[in-house]
Amino acid sequence: MNVIKLGGSIITEKESYKKVNLSLIRKLCGVLSEDKGRKILIHGAGSFGHIVALRSGLEKPGSINRKENAISRVMSDVLSLDSVIVDELNEKGVRAVSVPPHIVYHGNKPDFRMVNLLLKKKFVPVLYGDIVLAGERYRIVSGDEIALDLAKAFRPDSVVFATDVDGLFDSDPKTNADARLIPTIKSTEISVVNTRKDATGSMAGKMERIKKMVRYTGKVVVLNGTMPDRLRSQLRGKETISTVIA
Ligand code: IPE
Repeated sequence: MNVIKLGGSIITEKESYKKVNLSLIRKLCGVLSEDKGRKILIHGAGSFGHIVALRSGLEKPGSINRKENAISRVMSDVLSLDSVIVDELNEKGVRAVSVPPHIVYHGNKPDFRMVNLLLKKKFVPVLYGDIVLAGERYRIVSGDEIALDLAKAFRPDSVVFATDVDGLFDSDPKTNADARLIPTIKSTEISVVNTRKDATGSMAGKMERIKKMVRYTGKVVVLNGTMPDRLRSQLRGKETISTVIA
C-alpha cells in the first residue's frame, strides 16, 4: 500500500485564489488510474487554503470564537478543490472516495476507521489539507501531517510527495543555480535551513515530518509532480528523477 500526496502548489495556481491547474490534475489522475495497487491519496490546499487562512489569521491554532466565517470559508474552499480531484479520479476509473479530515480529526487521535473500511472494500480514500475543530478550538491540519498519521496507522510501503521541485537539494534550487539534487539520503543525514512560510509552516517543518515518517514506511519519495511521467515511473517501480529518503 502506498500513500501519495499531491502538493497544493502543483494542483492549483498558488498565487491565484481558487484557481485549479486542471490540465495537470487530469494528467496526474490519469497516471494514478494506471496504478492498480492499494493506495491512499492526499492533496494539499494551495490557493484554496493558504490565501484566506493567512489573510484571516488562521495559520496558528486558536479559539473558534469570532473566526467562524473564515473557518467555514476555508473548509468550503478546500472541499470544493477536493471535489474536483475526486471527480476527475472517478472520471478516470479510480474508485476515489473523499474522507474529509474535519470528520477524522476531532479528538486526541485521528479516527481512520472509514479509511480502513474503504481500503478493505477496494476504494481509494482521498484526504486533504483542512481546518479541523475540537472543543472550542480550530487548527489547520496539513496534508503532510495527515501523511505522517496515515504512515503510523497503516505502515505503507512508501509515502510519495508530488511537489513542484525535483526532490531535495544540497542548497535551495530556487535561489542557487548550482544546487544539486540528492538522489538518496538517510533521514538522519537530513539537515534543513529555514525557508519561506505558508499557512502550514516552512520547508523545515516538512522535513521534520519526513524524518519522523521514515520510521513507519519503507521509504519516503519526493519528486516533481509537474512531470507526471516521473510519478508514473515511481509507481511502476522504475528509476526516475527524485529523492528517496529511507
Ligand atoms: C493546507 O494544507 C491546508 C490549509 C491551508 C487549510 P497543505 O499544507 O497540505 O497544502 P499545500 O500542499 O501546502 O498547498
